[in-house]
Amino acid sequence: MCGIIGYCGPRAAKDVLLDGLKRLEYRGYDSAGICVASAGELTIIKRTGKIAQLREIVPENLPGVYGIGHTRWATHGVVNDVNAHPHTNCAGDIAIVHNGIIENFSALKEKLVNEGHVFRSQTDSEVIAHLVSDFYEGDLETAVKETLQLLKGTYGLICIHAKEPGRLVGARNGSPLVLGVGQEEMFLASDVMATLSHTKQVVYLEDGEVVSITNSDYHICDLRDRPVDKKIETISWELENIEKQGHPHFMEKEIFEQPESVLRAMQGRIDQENATARLGGLNMSTTELRDIERIKIVAAGTSFHAGLVAAYLIESVAQIPCTAELASELRYRNPIVERGSLYFAVSQSGETLDTLSAMRELKRKGARVLGICNVVGSSIAREAGAGVYIHSGPEIAVASTKAFTSQLTAFYLFTLLIARMHNMSFEAGRDFIACLEALPGLIQKGFEEQNHIRALAEKYSRYRDFLFLGRGLNYPVALEGALKLKEISYIHAEGYSAAEIKHGPIALINDETPSIFLVPNDSLRGKVISNMKEVKARKGKVIALCVADDAEVRDTADDIIAIPKAGELMYPFLMIVPLQLFAYYTALKLGRDVDQPRNLAKSVTVE
Ligand code: AGP
Repeated sequence: MCGIIGYCGPRAAKDVLLDGLKRLEYRGYDSAGICVASAGELTIIKRTGKIAQLREIVPENLPGVYGIGHTRWATHGVVNDVNAHPHTNCAGDIAIVHNGIIENFSALKEKLVNEGHVFRSQTDSEVIAHLVSDFYEGDLETAVKETLQLLKGTYGLICIHAKEPGRLVGARNGSPLVLGVGQEEMFLASDVMATLSHTKQVVYLEDGEVVSITNSDYHICDLRDRPVDKKIETISWELENIEKQGHPHFMEKEIFEQPESVLRAMQGRIDQENATARLGGLNMSTTELRDIERIKIVAAGTSFHAGLVAAYLIESVAQIPCTAELASELRYRNPIVERGSLYFAVSQSGETLDTLSAMRELKRKGARVLGICNVVGSSIAREAGAGVYIHSGPEIAVASTKAFTSQLTAFYLFTLLIARMHNMSFEAGRDFIACLEALPGLIQKGFEEQNHIRALAEKYSRYRDFLFLGRGLNYPVALEGALKLKEISYIHAEGYSAAEIKHGPIALINDETPSIFLVPNDSLRGKVISNMKEVKARKGKVIALCVADDAEVRDTADDIIAIPKAGELMYPFLMIVPLQLFAYYTALKLGRDVDQPRNLAKSVTVE
């Protein structure tokens, strides 16, 4: 997703902007640019490629203490230097950076062109600069507000005027925007990653809000000019949380962080005395929780896979009907919100527009929606108003890993809480807690297979198609394992229910399509072994994830990855980590950009 940044202060703006964009590059991008103002002039430097390449063409002595910057994830217009942001008006004295999609830009552009405006780019964003220019009569904030009245779609934007030194105006609708409050300097950015090295004091803007900043002051109002009183929040993260800490990639760091991140997701939430969980953020009374008749989960990507695991778990353990659905599908199918339903919107970033929009549609229909998010203060977290933060710490790599197991942890705790209000006994609750508390150690033990997994990844990296197969709770894990491989190695991989391959996918089996089976010693083990044998009978190569002493699986598969023994319900945690490593090492072998895979964004804030 695009990243935007703005700065007003005493320092060289170019350095602050370039460093800030560097911290936003995890969002995924294909080009970048900055605009710095000095002596009544705007200097714009932008190009395709990485921040490092942009930095090479920025003059070392570029003057100016206020400016804006952008990393572009192309939505409208090819990836080239002209379409990179910032964009300006005809006179070149107004510039903007924008994250989002202006859905009515074609009509606006046509009108502006007919009025004589000359456009340089193919982007939707450029119309904003020309509109602000049309409305400008000496006050940038007013011109921006009048422009916003015409825009349909989403934006997180920042605007600068050469004739208003030391002032920036920002606005948000559907795409995030945060204000960093410094000492005699102010920042605007898509997220706190860009400002954390300068200040921990932040103000999160809401949709429909406009912010005007100078180096020493700011004010926020709505589109009708009514002042909005916002509190300054303090970020709890430390900068080192977003550094690699000696790892070659953020993804590797985040995979190996999972014993700690799963533990963090549990901390303070286990009630041993009553053999249940404590989730105060739900803001629901015991009676309200007890009366839930059905649960529905909406999410995208990896978060959706976590929701699928949760759906199996909640229904089987708590005996409450539970389903998971793609947010992008639910949003447009006119869903029925039944009384007694509780919804969860699951999102690591808390900014995924598909999930945010689905949540808003559900709330319009009267649904109660809780958020399960990682980023504190994110849009989904704030608009849900209640839910569970997963506390996995900043997840920088585009491919989600630790957030997945932390989301699972949150759902397992919720399942315990709800199940203990219904049919789960005290002893069963204690057993469930014991299994949860054993997880960090078991995940850590699973890393003993690291070198073997790397060897297998390198051995199988030449194949172009994979099937990932699991059943029950591990079926969604097969989907997630396939997603990990395809999104960072660019190898085609499909996740399937192991039983389902008989109904078609087995036609794909040959000696060039390896199948990765998830076959723990659980109640479905025998059936999955049968599925494995069906594949072997057709010369398919099989990699099996199983407990180390499972001789029958060892004899059936071509290769195995041993996982620690655990309670049957806990295998999703122990199965996904080897699959994350398999994908990571495959991508490394193939020389992929592991942390920022092509075409992908960390947070998809467009539809
Ligand atoms: C996962 O590795 C991908 N980066 C992607 O599928 C991601 O899970 C999806 O875009 C949802 O993101 P969210 O959890 O921030 O909402």
